[in-house]
Amino acid sequence: MNKTRWYKDSVFYQIWPRSFKDGNGDGMGDLYGVYEKLDYIKSLGCDGIWFSPIYPSPGADCGYDISDYMDIAPEFGGMEAFRLVLEGAHQRGMKVLMDLVVNHTSDEHEWFQKSRRRIEPYTDYYIWRPGKPGGKLPNNWDSNFEGKAWTWDEVRGEYYLHLFAVKQPDLNMDNPLVREEVKRIMKFWLDMGVDGFREDVITYISKAEGLPDDHLFPIYKGMPKYNHGPHIHEYLAEFKRDVLDHYDCFTLAEAPLVWPDQALKYIDEENGQIDAMIQFQCQCADCLFTDYIPTKFSLKRMKRAFSNWQYKLRHRAWNMLYLENHDHPRIISRYGSEKFWKESGKTLAASYLFQQGTPFVYQGQEIGMLNWKPESADMYEDVQTCYNYAHSALNKTPQQRLERLWRSSRDSARTPVQWDSSENAGFSTGEPWFYVNQNYREINVAQQEADPDSILNFYRKAIHLRKSLSVVRHGNYRELFRYNSKLYVYAREMKGQKLLVICSFSNRDHILPTPTGFDFSKAQLILNNYSDDELQLNVLKPYECRVYLWT
Ligand code: GLC
Ligand code: CA
Repeated sequence: MNKTRWYKDSVFYQIWPRSFKDGNGDGMGDLYGVYEKLDYIKSLGCDGIWFSPIYPSPGADCGYDISDYMDIAPEFGGMEAFRLVLEGAHQRGMKVLMDLVVNHTSDEHEWFQKSRRRIEPYTDYYIWRPGKPGGKLPNNWDSNFEGKAWTWDEVRGEYYLHLFAVKQPDLNMDNPLVREEVKRIMKFWLDMGVDGFREDVITYISKAEGLPDDHLFPIYKGMPKYNHGPHIHEYLAEFKRDVLDHYDCFTLAEAPLVWPDQALKYIDEENGQIDAMIQFQCQCADCLFTDYIPTKFSLKRMKRAFSNWQYKLRHRAWNMLYLENHDHPRIISRYGSEKFWKESGKTLAASYLFQQGTPFVYQGQEIGMLNWKPESADMYEDVQTCYNYAHSALNKTPQQRLERLWRSSRDSARTPVQWDSSENAGFSTGEPWFYVNQNYREINVAQQEADPDSILNFYRKAIHLRKSLSVVRHGNYRELFRYNSKLYVYAREMKGQKLLVICSFSNRDHILPTPTGFDFSKAQLILNNYSDDELQLNVLKPYECRVYLWT
């Protein structure tokens, strides 16, 4: 199959289905709601959708605990609604990516139910261990969500491994039968017409032989023993050879801890096994490794992450660009400023949309949705949040602990999309499954549709521009003023076309040093976020951004 690498020209929109749009009034987002909004997504200039999981699931991790890989959950509308959405998307020239979650299943999946009873061929589908003498756990690994990574199963009389929630047992990918299942799942969706996969924590699927203790990591103990494990490239190559190579599809791997050099082993265009990677470094400018260890936002850290990936992948592999997804709090509340909400929302958009790669926009990001800040900690739903809350920062005051959740919880970005200023933000005519952010009367799609100067319309313009300028697809990337802690400035250059993106992250006026080699008298200002009569060539207003073009 000739791979056209169509994704290099795409801009994706991520749907986290529960909170996108409820089409049947039961309070839960669904595919009827998605169907209604296909034209809206298209109107942004997006030509692809990534669906967070929409399969049947008990919902212990909002769909990332799957109990049937070859169906669509009834609460989302079932297979019938999905076929409609898929067809509707394709008719509009939009591709569809499914979330492939195969590091683990739900404990309610039939495979697990049979495995715990040692019914063949499922006995070794999961990672079972008897435990160590003295009633000790099989090893010292932590789960990413809920305490230790092992839970005792009464039925089988053994421990099973779960790198995430207790209800998410890890599959044993070393078992060739499990890999056959993965290939069957891939084929099933690709044959239906799906255009590719976002592969959930895929770098975790191969665990170190013998599951040895980890003496390296103080938290997330065990990660060095299963992230980028011994057979990872072999298994991914097998999926590629047996399935993915036979379709003109796009694969995107989520990789919680990865550096560009290591990423190239996966995504090098010559001999990689997948097309692009979701790296987490761009998410670590205000925390250490995880949102739960917050630090002060550092623009330099953000720039370093962006530039490093741009430089290292150039001519060798393709970047995936993002600022938000369902696993992190809202970006304006983190890297921008709620006070300069509109300005910083636009600057953040410009900071990533003109880099080389395939950008993703997470639902609500395009209208500048902000972190949800509930008044009480027991309003949170997310399994990771609830565990963390109960077990960390116990020495802080209740208010401090609550505020830490505001800035670290995944629920901060999981509230329903704010469509208009009617009840429930127009998300549902019923009782929403989750809280709606109180600010929906000020921040919503309807209001921003009507305002040419809105964040929403800025996203539209920026996406339209990136699609119309070949320098964004092909040009060289170069960062300027690297050591400046308030400005992010980068150039994109190719023969005959040059772009300069200037973003201020300062909350006051800031001097713009003169960049050498750019003659502003010959430039065209193609995008900015202040009115033209406020413009001063070498002074930037708070969170001002400008994009200049030379042709
Ligand atoms: C990924 C998903 C996250 C999920 C986890 C376990 O990180 O993005 O939402 O909880 O994997 O599947
Ligand atoms: Ca519904």
